[in-house]
Amino acid sequence: MDIFDKIDRIMSTDLGQWATVGSKGYFTYPKLEGPIAPRMKFRGKEVLTWSINSYLGLADHPEIRKVDAEAAKDWGLAYPMGSRMLTGNSDYHEEFEAKAAEFMGKEDAFLMNFGYQGCISIIQALTDRRDVIVYDQLSHACIMDGMSMSLAKRFVFAHNDMEQLEDRLQKAQRITERTGGGILVITEGVFGMKGTLGRLDLITALKDKYEFRLFVDDAHGFGVMGKTGAGTAEHFGVQDKVDVTFCTFAKSMAGFGAFVTGDAKVVHYLKYNMRSQIYAKSLCMPMTVGAIKRLEMLRGMPELRENLWNVVNTLQNGLRERGFDIGNPQSPVTPVFMQGSPVLAGLITVELREKYGIFVSIVTYPVVEKGVIMLRMIPTAAHTIEDVKETLDAFEAIRTNIENGTYDNMELSMIQA
Ligand SMILES: Cc1ncc(COP(=O)(O)O)c(C=O)c1O
Repeated sequence: MDIFDKIDRIMSTDLGQWATVGSKGYFTYPKLEGPIAPRMKFRGKEVLTWSINSYLGLADHPEIRKVDAEAAKDWGLAYPMGSRMLTGNSDYHEEFEAKAAEFMGKEDAFLMNFGYQGCISIIQALTDRRDVIVYDQLSHACIMDGMSMSLAKRFVFAHNDMEQLEDRLQKAQRITERTGGGILVITEGVFGMKGTLGRLDLITALKDKYEFRLFVDDAHGFGVMGKTGAGTAEHFGVQDKVDVTFCTFAKSMAGFGAFVTGDAKVVHYLKYNMRSQIYAKSLCMPMTVGAIKRLEMLRGMPELRENLWNVVNTLQNGLRERGFDIGNPQSPVTPVFMQGSPVLAGLITVELREKYGIFVSIVTYPVVEKGVIMLRMIPTAAHTIEDVKETLDAFEAIRTNIENGTYDNMELSMIQA
């Protein structure tokens, strides 16, 4: 059999159908052009975008653009060459780490080249065949991949279900008593699809009853949650009880790269055991210098977070008041749930973009249950209350169309631009 035979089989499924439509750059691989801001260009037309994770609006901030550009001019994109451990270290990498650790209230931090790979390596490095991982069902793909690279056993608990978590901890304990291993609980701070928070308050409270360490992927919480923006653990007041925290630069920091924080001993161990960092090039200088600047702004400009939350609250309250089902987000991530087929999802997306100039990302099965359509919105500090009003009006118009059956006999091909 040809190894490529599976391609036809896989691409003829629902997912493949979406990929085919997507190959035109409409639903998947769209191109948003122009400066990264609430209003960008999509296929030549201005759209109000709610799909970009630059929570604090830093992506196109003039001060950030300046520092990035100057660092690129001074250092180029190559320096430092090699992995951190061998030839890829610099004073700037270490300066960032010291500042990040201090900000997060932890003993140490380690700067990483890419978040996804970093997260995988943290899990792989911290666990061996005697250990058990207990993780939230909605965990991000990098956590799933990290576990598949780990030799530890694993148990899943339903999203934020503390009873199930306890049950899994008891099972895990029975295993580790036999193997002599330990337990690592993994959850996220902010769940990036539905906007719920990992219940770090309740999970850390279980430390009184069970022996385990807690690893939190706070990709969407860092810079956004907590009084100072230190993340979801700060929001719940449990920073001292979270053992290892992962934060990416890909969201509130509007860049790429990531870091991990924890006790000095743990971070030191990670530095020598994370395969994706030891065997890959370190973060380039413009991004490292840029990360120092971003962290400075994230800490020194609380007004960015205030703007963000003002937009978030106006959007979420507005959607609720108009009767939209937005689930139960406690973070900026704002899902809007509707019922219908993937075709209806496509029709709504096209109408929003073409008729109302609103760009949102659409999520269908298998990410959400069959028959559910989720429009995922990311408000940012750069959006205005006017942007929110315009969007709410468009959503109402779309809902009226759905109720009136406007889309009932339409096919995507009829309206796709
Ligand atoms: C929850 C979560 N963890 C990890 C990552 C991976 O981070 P990065 O984009 O820096 O590779 C992402 C996506 O960016 C994410 O949403």
